[in-house]
Amino acid sequence: MTYQIIDHEYDVVVVGAGGAGLRASLGMSAAGLKTACITKVFPTRSHTVAAQGGISAALDNAGDGDDWRYHFYDTVKGSDWLGDQDAIEYMCKNAVDAVVELEHMGVPFSRDENGNIYQRQFGGHTIDHGKSMARRACAAADRTGHAILHTLYQQCLRYETEFFIEYFTLDLIMDEQGVCRGVIAWSLDDGTIHRFRAHMVVLATGGHGRTFFTCTGAHTCTGDGNAMVLRAGLPLADMEFIQFHPTGIYGAGCLISEAVRGEGGYLTNSLGERFMPKYAPNAKDLASRDVVSRAIAIEVKEGRGCGPNKDFVYLHLEHLDPKVIAERLPGISETARIFAGIDTFKEPIPVQPTVHYNMGGIPTNCQAEVTKDSKENVVLGLMAIGEAACVSVHGANRLGTNSLLDLVVFGRAAALRAKEVVIPGAIHSKLDETITEKIIERFDKTRFANGDLPTSKIRNQMQQIMQTHCGVFRNQELMDLGKEKLNECAESLSNLRINDRSLVWNTDLVEALELQNLMLQSVVTMGSAAYRMESRGGHARDDFPERDDQNWLAHTLSWCGDNLAVKLDKRPVHMYTLTDEVALVPLQKRVY
Ligand code: FUM
Repeated sequence: MTYQIIDHEYDVVVVGAGGAGLRASLGMSAAGLKTACITKVFPTRSHTVAAQGGISAALDNAGDGDDWRYHFYDTVKGSDWLGDQDAIEYMCKNAVDAVVELEHMGVPFSRDENGNIYQRQFGGHTIDHGKSMARRACAAADRTGHAILHTLYQQCLRYETEFFIEYFTLDLIMDEQGVCRGVIAWSLDDGTIHRFRAHMVVLATGGHGRTFFTCTGAHTCTGDGNAMVLRAGLPLADMEFIQFHPTGIYGAGCLISEAVRGEGGYLTNSLGERFMPKYAPNAKDLASRDVVSRAIAIEVKEGRGCGPNKDFVYLHLEHLDPKVIAERLPGISETARIFAGIDTFKEPIPVQPTVHYNMGGIPTNCQAEVTKDSKENVVLGLMAIGEAACVSVHGANRLGTNSLLDLVVFGRAAALRAKEVVIPGAIHSKLDETITEKIIERFDKTRFANGDLPTSKIRNQMQQIMQTHCGVFRNQELMDLGKEKLNECAESLSNLRINDRSLVWNTDLVEALELQNLMLQSVVTMGSAAYRMESRGGHARDDFPERDDQNWLAHTLSWCGDNLAVKLDKRPVHMYTLTDEVALVPLQKRVY
């Protein structure tokens, strides 16, 4: 099938319009670079809109003596020492300025009694290396992501970023030298195909929560950029590290913010017992997410789950001052009412651990440049930021509220770096047409797929396999079986059926393309999880219950070849800081 390709030329193309994509776009535009932002959903519908509890920065508005160095320590410990300490330093040191900048841009943060930005407690946030809990999460009630996303979009309009909204990006244009030269995208609105030339492509395409059956992520969280990177023959990093949020609504999976526990909420089992002090004597319900999720899973496994199937626990906030619920937690009250039929002023919410975040993704350095091997050589013309990227500030487990921070700090870093390396208005070199043809060939193969299986059937199977074989607790036998089942499931993609062959708003085709993206990521996630023979952060193995720094103080790199064969490698963790303003956190046992 031949298409009339519509050509565009930009200095920079940002793919994705969540918090990271918008922060990068506005920075690039403000720096005088001709910037396009391509997004498959309207910018303010991007998944950042769902972030609830806050963005972390040691502003110390509560006057407890908080400091960015404590934030640094907590983040290294939260990451179970897999986070790169130089990157963590960069993020935590820039956090205060990043939040002040957001405030100045117009983010409507909640206020404390002194009129300063309101800050609440969150899991794993401490003063003086665990001595007491910190108030570090800067919040706009429980709709912080919503507030930030809208403000960033307004700023992009101010700086005249050009938006291509409801465009589905198909693939990267990679030349023979392995340099990224742009992307090909499909306009859902009118069915046209577009070739965007750029000196820098920035992937800000978010996470891939939808590889699992229950997740707090939107249906759009299909990690499209990650899959583009795999198809370009480049690796992803640390894909085994999936974060389960302890408090997804039972059954529905919708997020109930950790802010509930930050405001004084707590968990109980079927005996009415507060069980967290057993697992985390100091931090209790505010231990890091992997610890709380595992505690819930153990309570359920040992028969102390609630309900007829004994498979959830209760999150209590009915004891809180109704004013706190109304003012600080209005969003979750609405969510609990709609999705669980619960009145949060009177009754507890049934919750279960639910996939929430991907610590792994496209490997980058601190300047957001994509790296391609264990030596961290850079891919020219390509950056990645936000949840799509693995810089790696979250290591094996992300602390709540560090995600919004990561988006804005590294979105800004990408813009600063682009300003250094991209010459505004530089001529684009000629492209070999066969690169575009290959991308269109894959598109058409899917568009005209004539097998027997609908996308929904294969997707459901894949999600169930991931949920069962790569969940909170893992072991070799379980994952080996998971790999077999997943390979079979992936092969069934050759028997896919698309019913709608049209090009305008063909959601049948969009979902099929997204499924192909998800499948690649599922395969490398399972492969990486089976490869890592230790327990660390969000990766908990019954057969290797201890952390093994001797053999596994390393990031996993994973490639996926044509026949879905996974290739794996390691790269060392950065056990160094950028400056001497903060002390390296030496390896320790991680207890809360
Ligand atoms: O629980 C929450 O509000 C989620 C925050 C986060 O993932 O950072």
